[in-house]
Amino acid sequence: MRVAVITGGMGGLGESISVKMHAAGYRVAVTCSPGNKIVDEWLENQKKEGREFKAYQVDVADFDSCQECIARVTKELGPVDVLVNNAGITRDSMFRKMSKENWDAVLRTNLYSVFNMTKQVIEGMLERNWGRIINVSSMNGAKGQFGQSNYAAAKAGMYGFTKSLALEVGRKGVTVNTVSPGYLGTKMVLSVPKEVMDTKILPLIPVGRLGSPEEIADIIAFLASDSAGYITGADIAANGGQYM
Ligand code: CAA
Repeated sequence: MRVAVITGGMGGLGESISVKMHAAGYRVAVTCSPGNKIVDEWLENQKKEGREFKAYQVDVADFDSCQECIARVTKELGPVDVLVNNAGITRDSMFRKMSKENWDAVLRTNLYSVFNMTKQVIEGMLERNWGRIINVSSMNGAKGQFGQSNYAAAKAGMYGFTKSLALEVGRKGVTVNTVSPGYLGTKMVLSVPKEVMDTKILPLIPVGRLGSPEEIADIIAFLASDSAGYITGADIAANGGQYM
């Protein structure tokens, strides 16, 4: 059984990815931030649905915390075959009002995390000649977004990282890709002010609705599979046509 690590795997999009990967037959390690209060309840609810996960509290913005986490995953579940860098936060504000704290927090959690986690698993993947790194970017990293100079910078950074690493590890059976969701019906998106959502976002989505986390999870499960071995350095955009 392959081992998959999903960072932020209990959140709005993360939970759908975790559930999908579990259904696809992986041993799934789900990470959440230290001090997360819903871990036990989440694991219990999943158990009731017949799903067994291992949960790890890790600060993805902190290199040592990631190192410790992956050492434990490897010991308890086995070497990591698939890493989904999904953990992310928003601290939206117009740039002129943006604090250094909110710039740093978003860059650390959304981009430095990709380095911190990938660094822990890449050597093993190369040794075993198989691996999947899937980075959850965002449509807003490609197009920019009013109020998200921090978030868009982090998500755009993932594209450069993905393509560069894909070049370096392609020969060794390791693929590296991004998935870029548009606006999904998750808590993160639903916290956008209603007026902004109704006037500035929804009318711009050609398919006329928010996306569902399951639609993104399906793409991620495909990228993780053997069938996607020839896809690397790619971005799969899933945004209802909002940005082409
Ligand atoms: N395009 C153009 N103008 C916009 C705009 C937009 N998308 N959003 C806001 N504005 C305008 C407002 O209409 C307003 O204009 P007026 O002064 O003429 O009335 C002005 O900017 C100020 O807007 P606010 O009153 O809302 O200002 P604020 O300081 O209270 O908040 C904001 C600014 C934080 C950017 C807020 O508008 C906001 O949260 N916008 C949504 C940002 C967003 O889309 N975030 C995505 C979160 S989901 C996600 O990130 C997941 C993903 O990957 C897609």
